[in-house]
Amino acid sequence: MGAVGKWIVYGGTVVLNAQKGSIMADRQLPLILALTGASGVIYGVRALEVLHELKVPVHLIISDAAALNLEIETDYRLSQIKALATRVYDITDMAAAVASGSFRTCGMLISPCTIKTLSAVANAFNDNLIVRAADVCLKERRRLVLMVRETPFHAGHIELMTRVTALGGIILPPIPAFYHQPKTIADIIDQSIGKALDLLGVEHQLFKRWSGR
Ligand SMILES: Cc1cc2nc3c(=O)[nH]c(=O)nc-3n(C[C@H](O)[C@H](O)[C@H](O)COP(=O)(O)O)c2cc1C
Repeated sequence: MGAVGKWIVYGGTVVLNAQKGSIMADRQLPLILALTGASGVIYGVRALEVLHELKVPVHLIISDAAALNLEIETDYRLSQIKALATRVYDITDMAAAVASGSFRTCGMLISPCTIKTLSAVANAFNDNLIVRAADVCLKERRRLVLMVRETPFHAGHIELMTRVTALGGIILPPIPAFYHQPKTIADIIDQSIGKALDLLGVEHQLFKRWSGR
């Protein structure tokens, strides 16, 4: 295969260096990334940076609360973040491509995901584009990963996560592992983002994998 340095999504899996002009190249599908207003907006920012570096096409939706947290928790500007995406949608744009199942994507990551958005997804309460796009992923049986961030949880939160899991979504709270001996906060963030990208079929080298003792 010719090395064209391009990430291709094929049957839900992203592979590197697909031959230029091959059938696979025609099947490149975007990944939907949503940032919501939970603490840890940096997880969404980091996911976007990595996907941008890997040349995975990202369709981005940012909630108002996520934009606020970007200001509170980081030094990033909204315009900086948006510049990394292939396409950016307004959260109120219910006529956007990703609001329809006929628009093909390789799935969606919500990072971080608030309890509010989790609740809306669990109940198919599709009153904004993030929740509608997530609901489309579930109905089309596409991969949906929610990096739910809250602590502690009450029984209602756990019920919502159970419901989304039953619908086919994957709950992946950003809970760090330490077997890769993280030295920095960035190492901890990359490990969680790496786990999410694993589930979305994106090849990466964000952390050192456990390979036995
Ligand atoms: C600094 C800050 C941190 C927050 N952290 C969380 C959190 O970790 N989890 C959560 O569910 N909500 C959190 N919230 C509350 C949400 O932002 C709020 O419920 C908002 O309405 C969520 O809207 P969205 O899901 O459309 O982004 C936080 C709010 C602020 C201002």
